[in-house]
Amino acid sequence: HSVAIVGAPSRGQKKLGVEYGPAAIREAGLLKRLSRLGCHLKDFGDLSFTNVPQDNPYNNLVVYPRSVGLANQELAEVVSRAVSGGYSCVTMGGDHSLAIGTIIGHARHRPDCVIWVDAHADINTPLVSGNIHGQPLSFLIKELQDKVPQLPGFSWIKPCLSPPNIVYIGLRDVEPPEHFIFYDIQYFSMREIDRLGIQKVMEQTFDRLIGKRQRPIHLSFDIDAFDPKLAPATGTPVVGGLTYREGVYITEEIHNTGLLSALDEVNPHLATSEEEAKATARLAVDVIASSFGQTREGIVYDHLPTPSSP
Ligand code: ARG
Ligand code: MN
Ligand code: MN
Ligand code: MN
Repeated sequence: HSVAIVGAPSRGQKKLGVEYGPAAIREAGLLKRLSRLGCHLKDFGDLSFTNVPQDNPYNNLVVYPRSVGLANQELAEVVSRAVSGGYSCVTMGGDHSLAIGTIIGHARHRPDCVIWVDAHADINTPLVSGNIHGQPLSFLIKELQDKVPQLPGFSWIKPCLSPPNIVYIGLRDVEPPEHFIFYDIQYFSMREIDRLGIQKVMEQTFDRLIGKRQRPIHLSFDIDAFDPKLAPATGTPVVGGLTYREGVYITEEIHNTGLLSALDEVNPHLATSEEEAKATARLAVDVIASSFGQTREGIVYDHLPTPSSP
């Protein structure tokens, strides 16, 4: 695998601390883990986004629209360069507003289908929610654009997704206007995971998204999909989340399709204890490593000859 690494300290909400996410994931050893798996790495570093001065809230509600718009425009450029160079692009957040840039950047070169692993649906419109991290999908879905006003800083955005190309996994905190809007997006909330088990959920996810065609998968993984006991360092924790085994099963199965093409790891690293922040970052590294072939049976080096048995 050729894997590009991009740090995106985006901040589409008021709470401080998200900008430390990329550094925390690096410190937890991401690059070493991926190169041990045989990945060929290209590190684009951590982007430094500009805070646009006088970035007043849109409608007295939505915070930092121009800064978030510009940051995502820059991020889309970088992701698009990585993807056109043949890399699978891993973007470390930051908060989930970064998916605007990663999904658009990826879609410029490869048709996108998105697996969105999250406690939240992140499909609010700027009319009802003040935080862009709760809204990224609303700007990306073509069919929604008559319901979504254009924010200052967002005129470059070209919506590139349609409901049949999206599957949600892990939802458990969806607001009524969001539920109304995504009625034809396939979702597996925590209830479906309880009912079907994670194995059936993944089978049905791939049936829906891929079927007989081979389409590149964009995985957008919000660390708050995990139970807050496992991932405490996050801005909007919700009880009753994924277990470690369910989370890793999702990424193992995505690796097994051979179709992973872009991965967002949203790991806000909010002001918590040092130990909680480190544990959350280690979990993020495990998620990314298993997306690129780390197995619980033991690492399989597919670029080395099989060792002879003792
Ligand atoms: N639904 C809430 C909102 O729109 C919370 C969204 C949380 N999203 C996230 N990426 N953590 O503000
Ligand atoms: Mn999210
Ligand atoms: Mn979330
Ligand atoms: Mn592999």
